[in-house]
Amino acid sequence: MEGALTARDKVGVQDFVLLDAHTSETAFVDNLRKRFRENLIYTYIGTLLVSVNPYQELGIYTLKQMELYQRVNFFELPPHVYAIADNAYRMMCSELNNHFILISGESGAGKTEASKKILQYFAAICPMTESLQIARDRLLLSIPVLEAFGNAKTLRNDNSSRFGKYMDIQFDFQGVPVGGQIISYLIEKSRVVYQNQGERNFHIFYQLLEGGEEELLAYLGLERDPQLYKYLSQGHWAKEASINDKNDWKTVYTAFSVIDFTEADLENLFGIIASVLHLGNICFKEDSQGWATIPSTHEIKWIAKLLGFQPSILLEALTHRKIEAKTEEVLCPLTLDLSLYARDAMAKAVYGRTFTWLVNKINSSLVNKDFTRKTVIGLLDIYGFEVFDKNGFEQFCINYCNEKLQQLLIERTLKAEQAEYEMEGIEWEPIQYFNNKIICDLVEERHKGIISILDEECIRPGPATDLSFLEKLEEKVGKHAHFQTRKLAGPKGRKRIGWMEFRLLHYAGEVTYCTEGFLEKNNDLLYRHLKEVLCRSRNSILSECFLVAELENRRRPPTVGTQFKNSLSSLLEILISKEPSYIRCIKPNEGKEPSKFDDFLIRHQVKYLGLMEHLRVRRAGFAYRRKYEHFLQRYKSLCPDTWPHWHGPPAQGVARLIQYIGYGREEYKLGKTKIFIRFPKTLFATEDALEFSKHQLVARIQATYKSCLGRRAYVKKRQAAVTLEAHWRGALARKETRRRKWAVQIIRKLISGFINRNKPLSPDDKEFIVLVRRNYILNLRHHVPKDVLDKSWLRPPAILENASDLLRKMCTRNLVRKYCSEITAERKAQMQQKVVTSEVFRGKKDGYAQSLNQPFADSRIDEEAINPKVLQLICNEKIQYGIPVIKYDRKGFKARQRQLLLTRNSAYVVELAKVKQKIEYSALKGVSTSNLSDGILVIHVFPEDKQKGDAILQCEHIFEVVTKLVMLVKKENIVRVVQGSLQFYISPGKEGTIVFHTGPEEQIYKDKNGQLTVVSARIKS
Ligand SMILES: Nc1ncnc2c1ncn2[C@@H]1O[C@H](COP(=O)(O)OP(=O)(O)O)[C@@H](O)[C@H]1O
Ligand SMILES: [Mg+2]
Repeated sequence: MEGALTARDKVGVQDFVLLDAHTSETAFVDNLRKRFRENLIYTYIGTLLVSVNPYQELGIYTLKQMELYQRVNFFELPPHVYAIADNAYRMMCSELNNHFILISGESGAGKTEASKKILQYFAAICPMTESLQIARDRLLLSIPVLEAFGNAKTLRNDNSSRFGKYMDIQFDFQGVPVGGQIISYLIEKSRVVYQNQGERNFHIFYQLLEGGEEELLAYLGLERDPQLYKYLSQGHWAKEASINDKNDWKTVYTAFSVIDFTEADLENLFGIIASVLHLGNICFKEDSQGWATIPSTHEIKWIAKLLGFQPSILLEALTHRKIEAKTEEVLCPLTLDLSLYARDAMAKAVYGRTFTWLVNKINSSLVNKDFTRKTVIGLLDIYGFEVFDKNGFEQFCINYCNEKLQQLLIERTLKAEQAEYEMEGIEWEPIQYFNNKIICDLVEERHKGIISILDEECIRPGPATDLSFLEKLEEKVGKHAHFQTRKLAGPKGRKRIGWMEFRLLHYAGEVTYCTEGFLEKNNDLLYRHLKEVLCRSRNSILSECFLVAELENRRRPPTVGTQFKNSLSSLLEILISKEPSYIRCIKPNEGKEPSKFDDFLIRHQVKYLGLMEHLRVRRAGFAYRRKYEHFLQRYKSLCPDTWPHWHGPPAQGVARLIQYIGYGREEYKLGKTKIFIRFPKTLFATEDALEFSKHQLVARIQATYKSCLGRRAYVKKRQAAVTLEAHWRGALARKETRRRKWAVQIIRKLISGFINRNKPLSPDDKEFIVLVRRNYILNLRHHVPKDVLDKSWLRPPAILENASDLLRKMCTRNLVRKYCSEITAERKAQMQQKVVTSEVFRGKKDGYAQSLNQPFADSRIDEEAINPKVLQLICNEKIQYGIPVIKYDRKGFKARQRQLLLTRNSAYVVELAKVKQKIEYSALKGVSTSNLSDGILVIHVFPEDKQKGDAILQCEHIFEVVTKLVMLVKKENIVRVVQGSLQFYISPGKEGTIVFHTGPEEQIYKDKNGQLTVVSARIKS
């Protein structure tokens, strides 16, 4: 509701109490129109709901809507029939008291629909139990049955209820609907025998003919075509798309089984319905004396069969009247008119009472047999004020009823207002209103009221007519301010009232009634003769409806007017003990058209529904009242102290709020739980301020929301990051664990490899081997020998000995190759010589090791130092090497200075210019030296040669000389290194000896044995 305050320019106000011009009917209708245009059919006047029939489905009765209105504060949501229903239900549940919802309005205004919606709401939202299901189904299904028998198509409404209905729904202490009771009022019996042009009889006749099975129709003696029946064919109605009799029949038929109707009940019931149709078709003729006769007894027979009596009795009862003489009864024939009257009376009586029976039957199925305490919500769906061009007895009764209900409404509203003021501790301000009790009295007062006058006229002996009744009225109530007739009206009003009419000034406006038919309708006479026949019926429904006791009671039955008055007063008694809610229904146009808003028609209804009067009462005090918490909740943003939260009691919050906004003292009052605002304009100003502040609020809310979103996104991202991180760390840790595991395995293998290093290789030790290999090789890098003479080598592990050897060889080879590639030709020659020296002397002769470091010279004698004669003698053979030597004679061992010259082919021993001895290499047998450090060299020659014998020479550089010689001779194994002594060749068959030993100093001498003794100094090693 508050929500729509903001949209009030477009959709009007949701509560008429907030209308500024609350006394203006125009403003009222304007507001209705504004809302109707927006398909808003509901508007409140306080807690009263005004409903305009939309004549179209608006989609506002869905289950979702029902849930929406459930347990919601009445004013929180837009006005709705569900809000009214929910409010009543909740109050009933919480306060355990009884309620009623009064729904009134013109025919076609939507009363019955509203009551159905309420019932559906209860069925949907109430707690569910098994017993509830049955009770609920019965409550819901009783409606189509009642509508079939009590509703009819009229010009105003295709499904017009032709009876007033009050329905009690009983709830147990938990709010579960457990039963119900229906009271019907004033069924329009005249419709059974007569319908206006374009209207129909009660639906059940057509439903039976359209939907009934063949056998059923045959059993009832009926044909399918409604046009064959007089009671159905007078209205000349065209088929209506909104009515589907065949489907409705199915619904009704199913409903019968749910609400406990037996086969026999249905047989009897349809027997009665068929009999009514047959009755209508009875033809009367006038005989010669003017009495009525029935030429064809076809219908009579069917009726007699269906209702269970003799055809002849019925025939007699329809054409004769019993008159009681003093001692005997005399049969008196009827005129044609009276016969027709009797027939119609019978049809009406039968239908009317059957309807009452039906209601009772439904009630017995709805009754709750458990006698615990129940609370009820009553639904009163009753005709509203009716004002036609011609208003008769029915309108009189209906309007009287509305007058009574209005009285109730005003009293209850005022009482409620007063109670609220009292409860809230607010001073009561008397409200001026029109009390319509005066009109009710005019109608119902005992002995003085119109109904009493009518009754009197009905029973009065002598000729009583409608006119005489009118005269009586003029006589008895003529002075009443709310009563007028043509005679009583002044010359001005006279024209508007007919001769047979009287006018009542109802609270809602004037209504002029025509007295024609008042007496007859009030009497509702059924000839005693016919009553007797009906009492004897074997149709069990009829025998329940027409009791013999009634015949025996000689007292006149109460008239229709009195009956209605009584039932109304008992209805009011029922209502008065209950808490009321009101729904006022308005019909927007006569054509049943959606979206058409007929101003004139609506203004008329607004008037006759007493809406302006009701609004006046509601507005007399305060236009608006709300609980503090609700008011504060809505407007708290208007005051910094109350926004965004007020932590104290709501009443103080509201007081602070309105002080801040600046309400004038006369504008409001503060009750115990509510604030009361006197003028709508005050509320609207507040509302406008709220609207204005909303923009700021929106910005703030948006900002908060955005920051909230941002934060949410941030938190989400952070969470994602944490999750990612966790996963990543997990992955890393797993990787690390795997690595460590792997490492452990490897280390284990390495250890086991180490342990098994001396055992035969196994594939399990592969890693260990690889590691050892790798380590060794890497280590070896730093220990590779840098030159050929470096003999160091990193010791290999056992398994790598082979490899190490190979490597070492490779390395040595490499070093050698490098070394070789670096040495010069001279050095190479030197080396080659040294190699030869090594082959000859290594390990054999003392002084060899010391000689290694001394390089060999090319020659020890310069060419100039050689005598040119010698050179000539040698024939210019190129001297390859020369060295000074001492030559010992072979016999006396005399030492002589000589030169030893070596050429390519010969060795020459030379003394100055003489060649003392030439030894060709081909004649050279061998060369001997001692193993000691002396410089003695013996060149052996073959004895057969003409040579002088072996040459005994001493020289320095003994290794050099021998090496040069060996290299030039080019023979292998020519050098002999001897120990102790050697033999040399002197001449054929003669040999000398040289003895070698060591001594303290070097000496060479001829010993006593004639041997050459060579003493070498001992070499310190
Ligand atoms: N709330 C509603 N929404 C849609 N159509 C409605 C509504 N109320 C009434 N009607 C239409 O108006 C017709 C007459 O309503 P009904 O309740 O029978 O009138 P009443 O009982 O006042 O004579 C219904 O048959 C239906 O077509
Ligand atoms: Mg109705």
